[in-house]
Amino acid sequence: NSMLSWQRTAYHFQPEKNWMNDPNGPMYYKGWYHFFYQYNPKGAVWGDIVWGHAVSKDMIHWLHLPLAMVADQWYDKNGVWTGSATILPDGQVVMLYTGSTNESVQVQNLAYPADPSDPLLVDWIKYPANPVLFPPPGIGAKDFRDPTTAWLTSEGKWRITIGSKLNKTGIALVYDTYDFKTFERVEGVLHAVPSTGMWECVDFFPVSNRGENGFDTSIKGKNVKHVVKVSLDDDRHDYYALGTYDEKNVKFTPDDFKNDVGIGLRYDYGIFYASKTFYDQSKGRRVLWGWIGESDSEYADVAKGWASVQGIPRTVALDRKTGRNLLQWPVAEVESLRLRSDEFQNLTVNPGSVVPLEIGTAAQLDIEAEFEIDKEALEKTSQSNMEYECSSSGGATERGAFGPFGLLVLADDHLSEYTSAYFYVVKGSDGQLKTSFCSDQSRSSLATDVSKKNFGSFVPVLKDEKLSVRILVDHSIVESFAQGGRTCVTSRVYPTRAIYGAARLFLFNNATEAIVNASLKVWQMNSAFIHPFQPDQRN
Ligand code: FRU
Repeated sequence: NSMLSWQRTAYHFQPEKNWMNDPNGPMYYKGWYHFFYQYNPKGAVWGDIVWGHAVSKDMIHWLHLPLAMVADQWYDKNGVWTGSATILPDGQVVMLYTGSTNESVQVQNLAYPADPSDPLLVDWIKYPANPVLFPPPGIGAKDFRDPTTAWLTSEGKWRITIGSKLNKTGIALVYDTYDFKTFERVEGVLHAVPSTGMWECVDFFPVSNRGENGFDTSIKGKNVKHVVKVSLDDDRHDYYALGTYDEKNVKFTPDDFKNDVGIGLRYDYGIFYASKTFYDQSKGRRVLWGWIGESDSEYADVAKGWASVQGIPRTVALDRKTGRNLLQWPVAEVESLRLRSDEFQNLTVNPGSVVPLEIGTAAQLDIEAEFEIDKEALEKTSQSNMEYECSSSGGATERGAFGPFGLLVLADDHLSEYTSAYFYVVKGSDGQLKTSFCSDQSRSSLATDVSKKNFGSFVPVLKDEKLSVRILVDHSIVESFAQGGRTCVTSRVYPTRAIYGAARLFLFNNATEAIVNASLKVWQMNSAFIHPFQPDQRN
C-alpha cells in the first residue's frame, strides 16, 4: 500500500516486508556483522516464526540473506524462537535457540554453521540430537526460553542463563556445559525478583568500571561489573541492573536493591523490547540491539504489509561519572550517513515561544542539541512543582516554571502535527534541581488509530553539565539519547502531513520562567543501503 509507504524508515534495519520481532544471535564473524531476527515470512503480524538473516560491514548498510532457520523439525515446529551466538576461542560459532515444539513446549536447541569458512554463514545445521534442554521439573512448559550467549567459568565450562518464572517471580536459570550438547543444571538461580513475571530475553554481560571499552562476555577481574537485563513479558519493557557476579555461588547481586532488575532502570522509556548485546571483538565494544515495534493498529500493519524496525545499534558502557547507570549511544558508523549540516549557536528561546529552524526538509535527521536555563530565572524562582512524571503530565503544552522546552520534530509548517522531545526541570524546596526528559506523541499524528503516549523519565544531570540530547529522526521513528545516553526514549509516530519534504524542525519553550539558551547542530541523513544480497557483493 503506497499510501502508507512514508512510514518506512530510511536508515533503520527492516526486512523488505512482513513482521519482525526480537534480534537474535548478533555477532561479528570473518569481517561481517551478522544479524538474525524473529521473522514471519507469511504476513505482518506475529506468527510462523523463523530466523531472518542479514549481514553488514558497518551495522548500517545491510544485505538480506536467505532465511537462516525455518520451522522444519518437531522441536521447533511452532516456531524458531529467540537465541544467542557464542564464539568459541578457536573461532567456532555455536548458536543456541528456543524451539516451540509440535506440542508448544519450549526447548533449547543447538545449531551451527554448515560451512565455517563461509564468512556469510548462509547455511545452518541443526544438531541431529536436538533438543539439548527440556523445561526442568517445576518449570512451566511455556516458561523456558531465550538462552544467552555463553561465558566461561573458572573450571573451563561454558555457562548460560535462561529466563523463566516461578509463580509470579521472574527467574534466571543457569546451566553449565562443555560441548553445548549435554548440559548440567546449576542449582538455584542467577537472580530472581518477585512480582516481575516471566523473564524473556535475559541478557548477562560484563562492563568495565574503568573505561569505555567493552568486554568479552567471559572476562573476569576486578575492573568488572555485571549487568542483568530482562524483558518483562507483563509490561513489555527492558529493565537492567548493575551489580556483582559471584561466580562461586552463581549469584548476581544488584548494587542497589531499589534499582533491581524489572523494577528500576530501563534501557529505554519508549518502545524498545527483547534487546540483546554482543561483544564486537573487531572494535572492542559491546553493542546493543533492540526491537522497536509499531504503535499503530494491527489493521494498519497489515495494510502497509510490514511491522517493526530495529533500533540503531547502540554501544553500551558504564557511566563512570554517576557509576549508577549505563550510557547508550548510537554506534559511530551511523555518522557516515551524515550529509549537509546546519549549526545554530546560542539562540535565545523565550518563555512561550516556538522558533522554526530553517534546515529544509526534516524527515531524516541526526540532531545534537544543548540547552541552558538562564541562571537569573533559575535563582529567582525559589521553588517550582516538586515532582514530574512524563507519562502522567500534560506533555509539551502544560507549562511549568522550568519546562517543558526542547525540540519539535516531524512537524509540519502549521504545527498540526509534531512530536516533542523535551526537558522539564523542577526545583525542590531544598533548592535541588531534578530533570526529566520526555518524548510526547500526543500531537504526533492526525490519525486516530495510533498510540499518543508521553514517554520519558528522570535523567541525571551533574554539576556544571548543560542539558543535552542527541535525536535520530527517521520518518516514523524518533530515538532520543539524553545526557550522553543516560536516559533514552524511542517513539514510533505516524505523521500524515509532516512527511518527506513537508517535515520541519522547531525549537520550543513552554516554560513560564526559564529563558533558554539553545545551541544545536543538525545533519540531514542519507538513506542506508538495505536490500537483498546479490552474489557479486560477496566481497
Ligand atoms: C520476546 C519473545 C521471546 C520469544 C520470541 C518469540 O519478544 O516472546 O520470548 O523467544 O519473542 O517470537
